[in-house]
Amino acid sequence: MSGTVVAAANGAEPLLEVRNLRKSFSRASGPLSVAESHAGGLAAAVDGVSFTLARGETLGIVGESGCGKTTLARLLLRLIEPDSGEMRFRGQDWLGARGAELRTLRRRIQMVFQDSAASLDPRMRVGTIVGEPLAIHEPRLPRAGRLARAGAMLEAAGLGHEALFRYPHEFSGGQRQRIGIARALILHPELVVADEPVSALDVSVGAQILELLDRLRREFSLSLLLISHSLPVVAQLATRVAVMQRGRFVEMGAAEQVLQSPQHTYTRELLAAVPRIPAGDFSP
Ligand SMILES: Nc1ncnc2c1ncn2[C@@H]1O[C@H](COP(=O)(O)OP(=O)(O)O)[C@@H](O)[C@H]1O
Ligand SMILES: [Mg+2]
Repeated sequence: MSGTVVAAANGAEPLLEVRNLRKSFSRASGPLSVAESHAGGLAAAVDGVSFTLARGETLGIVGESGCGKTTLARLLLRLIEPDSGEMRFRGQDWLGARGAELRTLRRRIQMVFQDSAASLDPRMRVGTIVGEPLAIHEPRLPRAGRLARAGAMLEAAGLGHEALFRYPHEFSGGQRQRIGIARALILHPELVVADEPVSALDVSVGAQILELLDRLRREFSLSLLLISHSLPVVAQLATRVAVMQRGRFVEMGAAEQVLQSPQHTYTRELLAAVPRIPAGDFSP
């Protein structure tokens, strides 16, 4: 795992480069506690975030609720546009991408959500749900081919082929998250942004989902951005950890270093807030 960090340090082109990303919302629709930006009436949800992500790497982003994690995730996927900043994906200007280039790049970045139950259409069979990105991006692929690929991806995510013909409500929370992951991976993206992927799950089920994400990262040569309010969760997978507070990265470094010798007061507070960490959880 540390090899990817070395590769980045050696100057190999990163998969994703983010520089000075900013996004503000009008205060009217957000809480007043958020740091005010220079422009009156606006609150910065993401306030000058910069980082790079190497191929195959897992970067953890941790910070308490409301610090801007989901806004950052949505910016990275271009679900919302930043006020300013730069993003390069595979060396290409990701913010400037339009038309066919945008569509090509878009399928290479996929998101896994916290609440997969809410993001899965209850009236659709699992095979249709998992195959839907294929129906959009590869419309000429016949239905049988689509279902075959959906079935294979469900198996990779630890569910059987028979899941294809069932409905989301027939599955547990952990299984529904596997369905969400299969859907996110069906187009073979290069980057997966997982926003609180285990927050809605029991600790033991969540640990299995994290293991699955790590296995799929290796199997499909993915880069992973793992976003969580929980330091133990990001510590379980991340090579590097960024600590986010009020829209900014206040500390970023090798996971071991951030966890063993945190430099920033806020990181120490986050560590102190973790009730009990079983020995070994922070080891690489
Ligand atoms: N669409 C929006 N409109 C107004 N304010 C928003 C919007 N989305 C997020 N915010 C505000 O931005 C801040 C960061 O939110 P969010 O990115 O969801 O944080 P996190 O995911 O870390 O909990 C919060 O104060 C939130 O209320
Ligand atoms: Mg969030």
